[in-house]
Amino acid sequence: MAAQTFTVAVVGATGAVGTEMLNVLAEQRFPVGRLVALASHRSAGSDVSFDGESIKVEELTENSFAGVDLALFSAGAATSERFAPLAVKAGAVVVDNTSFFRMKPDVPLVVPEVNPEAIDQHHGIIANPNCSTIQCVVALQPLHALAGLRRVFYSTYQSAAGAGQRAMEELKDQTVALLNFRDPPVEKFPRRLAFDCIPQIDKFLDDGSTKEERKMVDESRKILGLPGLRVSVTCVRVPVFVGHAVAIHAEFDRPISVEAARAALEGAPGIVCHSDPAKYPTAVDAAGNDPVHVGRIRRDDGLENGLAMWVVADNLRKGAATNAVQIAQALVARGRLGTQH
Ligand code: A2P
Repeated sequence: MAAQTFTVAVVGATGAVGTEMLNVLAEQRFPVGRLVALASHRSAGSDVSFDGESIKVEELTENSFAGVDLALFSAGAATSERFAPLAVKAGAVVVDNTSFFRMKPDVPLVVPEVNPEAIDQHHGIIANPNCSTIQCVVALQPLHALAGLRRVFYSTYQSAAGAGQRAMEELKDQTVALLNFRDPPVEKFPRRLAFDCIPQIDKFLDDGSTKEERKMVDESRKILGLPGLRVSVTCVRVPVFVGHAVAIHAEFDRPISVEAARAALEGAPGIVCHSDPAKYPTAVDAAGNDPVHVGRIRRDDGLENGLAMWVVADNLRKGAATNAVQIAQALVARGRLGTQH
């Protein structure tokens, strides 16, 4: 019997994350029978590359999902709000990379290394978490299993790629302008990013925190299944093209030695543990590959049973596309894809 294949739509196929979704689907040999590349009217008719082939981009419309088994969305929250329910109605399972559905109680928010069982609860839509949150919970889960996570502090160093393709171009243009003594263009970021750091990602909320910081609090609690977890966050955009880093300080219920933490991280799925403190990973090391890299693991005597670590990942891959494709692979493994037509 021929192996089953699936019709897969990528919504936002011309974007920074959509491009990686196409790359990861091909690299992972996901059983794609037909690939539908969707974007706005702006790029309809252009070509994207999938598995060595050129695919014509189609404009996203209400009729785009006929016959689609799996729809991977990464074209902004407003697009997901309007079109994801239409994709489900047409018989697709949606894996949505935007924030729109993440905190809805009936939508699973899944990192396969952490809470794969949540996939079974879906009603058509599965949410892919925030990029920084994904890499943090992958690193925290094995330590939580060991000693019980009680409290966590995150300080992020997030790359331009998190704001999309045009934002990466803006960082490049700003850098070139400044090196040529010209005024840098500022459109995609709230301020100039080149040669500076911006302590604002997404919009401000009433309490003075940012939406990105709120996402890291809410989503960490939901994925780890710890609704009362105390989470303190500052999110900062740094002039790096691809790859997010997070300094994590965590407090546990029980004592946890550095050696035990390293052993747990070394044995955990999806992690590369850099045990030599001097051989720490950076965003450049993580860019273009899938694992979450953990280094600088040490005691934090400022906390009770405290540990500090430095966690780096490619935000377009494990922080977005790779995690989405892993969810799709888990759906296939559970026989939950291609059953709706
Ligand atoms: P387009 O290239 O036509 O603008 P990024 O996050 O890198 O900025 O990419 C956003 C992706 O979402 C792009 O593929 C973009 O397509 C797509 N997109 C943005 N707005 C819409 C929309 N209203 N309908 C469909 N696709 C959209």
